Amino acid sequence: MCRRPVCEGHSDHVDARHWNCTVCTEDGREMAEEAHLEWTEKQALEKIPDLVWARAHKAVHLGNVLVITGAGVSAESGIPTFRSVDGTGLYDADDWNPVEFLRSSTVEHQIDKLWEYYLDRFAGAMDGKEPNPAHLAIAYLEAFMNKTPGRFLLVTQNIDGLHIEAGSTPEKCVELHGDRRMRCSDECWLRNNDGVPKIVPIPEGATFPEDVTCPDCGYMMRPHVLLFDEAYSQELYRSEEAHDFAQEADLVITVGCSAVVPVAQILANYAVMRDAVVIDVNPGDGPLATLADQQGVRLQGRAGAVMPKLVDYLTR
Ligand code: APR
Repeated sequence: MCRRPVCEGHSDHVDARHWNCTVCTEDGREMAEEAHLEWTEKQALEKIPDLVWARAHKAVHLGNVLVITGAGVSAESGIPTFRSVDGTGLYDADDWNPVEFLRSSTVEHQIDKLWEYYLDRFAGAMDGKEPNPAHLAIAYLEAFMNKTPGRFLLVTQNIDGLHIEAGSTPEKCVELHGDRRMRCSDECWLRNNDGVPKIVPIPEGATFPEDVTCPDCGYMMRPHVLLFDEAYSQELYRSEEAHDFAQEADLVITVGCSAVVPVAQILANYAVMRDAVVIDVNPGDGPLATLADQQGVRLQGRAGAVMPKLVDYLTR
């Protein structure tokens, strides 16, 4: 029987029956890691300082709440994050920098390559995926706050549409980086749709160029996603709504955002300028976790495990 220790943190809460297995079996090790993660997540919730609790609870019942999500909220739905520590991220797969490729110049000069990449890498990763308990908890929080005097807004950087599928309403869900639709790359709506952006669904199983040609002007359509050198805009991405609401938020809950792209941190900082509480939910570290340490609390855990409990507590 193997008696080597697993790791300090595991010794007191992995039952003896499995302890020995954790050294010599992969399953046992995964179980120990899972048990440890669950224990950490439970601890994190129990360790929330009373004052932070009181202010967060008050914000949900009487104030304005901003939830900002990133790729991490969809990780437990099986959609890889963009960046990762173990090389499984959507951007990690290539020996070239997608940030150099995902630019407006690619729309102009390599629209075929852009569609190929989008349909293979993004659409391929999102197809058939379903909301997880974190998405459902956030939708529940919105519904709960419909009955309170305060206001709620969800701002997501994700284009996967899982928040809406989980029951978040389009009015209260700002998809700041776009969604799974497409629009004319020549912006012909500026000429023939009274300037109102015409954004249409991408047909299931779409192929280039047949299914992605603009029916109005014959130009190529492009994925309705914000590229790295493009500006946020109210007409395409409702960015002013997010910006204005952040300046009135009493509580900001950030979920699964690395803040490598600064918008989540910028919005959270707007709220902090009016002394809002910040709760960051992320198993990893980052600038938002640091901000939460200063302005509230970081909950180091997976969104799917932490968010249902957090929302349950906050809506009591
Ligand atoms: N629960 C919560 N957070 C998680 C989980 C999980 N189960 N798994 C991973 N995370 C965290 C990671 O620790 C990381 O901080 O999710 C974050 C994912 O980071 P990114 O991949 O950088 O995603 P995101 O922050 O959304 O990227 C922002 O960058 O590429 C652009 O437009 C793209 O919207 C995207 C933006």
